[in-house]
Amino acid sequence: MSFWQEQIKIGNRSFPRFIGGPLDGITDSPFRQLVRDFSKDELLYTEMRHVACVANDKVGDKALRFEQFERPLNYQIAANKLECIEKACEKILERGVDLLDLNVGCPAKNVVGSGSGSALMADLPRLEFVVRRIRACVPNIPFTVKIRAGFKEQNAIEVAKLLQDCGVDAIAVHPRLQTQKFDGRPDYPLVAQVKKAVSVPIIVSGGVVNWATAKMVYEQTGADGYLIGRGIWSKPWKLHELYENSQGRPYVVSNELMLQYAIKHLDLMIAYYGVRGLYAFRKHLPFYIRGGQGASLLRQDLVLSECHDEVKKKLIDYLEPKSA
Ligand SMILES: Cc1cc2nc3c(=O)[nH]c(=O)nc-3n(C[C@H](O)[C@H](O)[C@H](O)COP(=O)(O)O)c2cc1C
Repeated sequence: MSFWQEQIKIGNRSFPRFIGGPLDGITDSPFRQLVRDFSKDELLYTEMRHVACVANDKVGDKALRFEQFERPLNYQIAANKLECIEKACEKILERGVDLLDLNVGCPAKNVVGSGSGSALMADLPRLEFVVRRIRACVPNIPFTVKIRAGFKEQNAIEVAKLLQDCGVDAIAVHPRLQTQKFDGRPDYPLVAQVKKAVSVPIIVSGGVVNWATAKMVYEQTGADGYLIGRGIWSKPWKLHELYENSQGRPYVVSNELMLQYAIKHLDLMIAYYGVRGLYAFRKHLPFYIRGGQGASLLRQDLVLSECHDEVKKKLIDYLEPKSA
């Protein structure tokens, strides 16, 4: 069995090595529903939600609103203090998820300002408190943590050892500092060092967009799992494509398939968010309209439209002559 046919073991569960990463506002419930058309067993992360939002339902019913067929799901939380952790975990477990993840990587100003996300990498006593409390709240499902190279300074190895001592089942490493946000070359040799320093599975996050980059990152890190972030944006078939390519099989996505998925995605966004779904869909639209005649004009036209039915009709009109 090849490395890519084997699975990553996280606690008592096993998953294919390509994993759908968390992208706030992108890999939401409608998008994850689309991924399930292509990939049934792959682990998908939810977007980050603060434990206070989950515990107090501050975001309406959205924080815990997803379909059971989106599972296996790794529900990602942010926390900066012990308050709300227990209640949030109870609600998440009640809702039904497969894994729980703590975000220790978010670089956003408002998140680090409150002491959560990547700020926890610069406050190890607080990180340990939070992690031990979460571990105690979810004894029966795997618990993972997603970290960075460090906050202002690199300390991923020290943090990974601490997390392992706290009973974490796997660690995802996005090897950039908080100051680098999402730019600059990821420090893959650092991931290789983290992998050597701990025995829990390591998932690498950063820069895997196709089979060539997956292979390169594997060679440089030896990581157990591969978290696909921006590479899956508006490409619900990406995890399947990566697996097929890893088996030496080509996987070609036609312009027609992209358009069909644009229409399906739009419908799911409207069903989930109501009229606001059209605005959220604009972040995806340009990726789906590629390569065909008039594609660029259609993109410009649709991105400005204020009407869901109009966007849908124009997408169908553009698709139909091609599939006839
Ligand atoms: C728009 C956007 C939203 C993101 N949201 C989250 C999030 O909610 N939780 C998280 O852990 N990481 C989040 N990330 C980071 C990604 O999961 C990933 O670690 C990073 O983008 C590097 O991987 P990539 O090169 O595959 O995108 C986000 C990144 C972007 C660009």
